[in-house]
Amino acid sequence: MSQAMVEVRGVFKSFPAADHPVRILDGVDLTVAPGERVAIVGPSGSGKSTLLNLLGTLDTPDQGTVVIDGMDLSRMAGDALATFRNANIGFVFQSHHLLPHLTVHENVLVPVLARESRIGPEVLARAGALLERVGLTPRQGQLPGRLSGGERQRAAVVRALINRPKLLLADEPTGALDRASAGEIATLLGELNREQGVTLVVVTHSDDLASRMERVLRMQDGRLV
Ligand SMILES: Nc1ncnc2c1ncn2[C@@H]1O[C@H](COP(=O)(O)OP(=O)(O)OP(=O)(O)O)[C@@H](O)[C@H]1O
Ligand SMILES: [Mg+2]
Repeated sequence: MSQAMVEVRGVFKSFPAADHPVRILDGVDLTVAPGERVAIVGPSGSGKSTLLNLLGTLDTPDQGTVVIDGMDLSRMAGDALATFRNANIGFVFQSHHLLPHLTVHENVLVPVLARESRIGPEVLARAGALLERVGLTPRQGQLPGRLSGGERQRAAVVRALINRPKLLLADEPTGALDRASAGEIATLLGELNREQGVTLVVVTHSDDLASRMERVLRMQDGRLV
């Protein structure tokens, strides 16, 4: 068997609350194969974003291990972790988080500048191809404020993919969109998973988006079932 893309074992996470810490993740196990599409669903407050943040190296578990593409995250810190994240993991959030003063084209290149001082022709070609792929070529010179919600989210998807991540994490990527735009993004994520071979872990309240994944896991009582 080939190595898992995501391997989560016995992960616990609590957050401080009014009087005593509240355990949000209570022994989560999760294995995701390379190229797989997985949805995580569950009630609000059940810990879906908390888990996604652990996968994305944005937070650390109290206990347990998170291994991404064979790298145990607990063995990396600081710059090494940031470099690993930038090279291997793409994020799409409910809110696009595009920088308002940069054009769409500039926005999608931001993750490249985090690791290279200049933008080479190869990267420019990739940005152009991805923007074309998501139908944003005519919009690439515009500021995000001029775009529709669906267009902004497509730009955010391109930005997440620009560094060729092996793992794409999306937290309610269609949560802020109308039905039609949500459907577009759902289709796009599925197609990009197949075309680019990127492993996809999506947190969503949308049955439509969840149904496009190969596996749907539910967060319940701090575990995935
Ligand atoms: N940094 C934090 N500090 C304190 N409590 C937190 C923190 N992050 C999350 N929590 C709490 O942990 C619980 C789970 O939050 P989380 O955001 O993971 O839920 P969720 O399943 O993503 O919910 P939703 O569907 O509403 O996005 C919530 O009660 C939340 O208030
Ligand atoms: Mg959430």
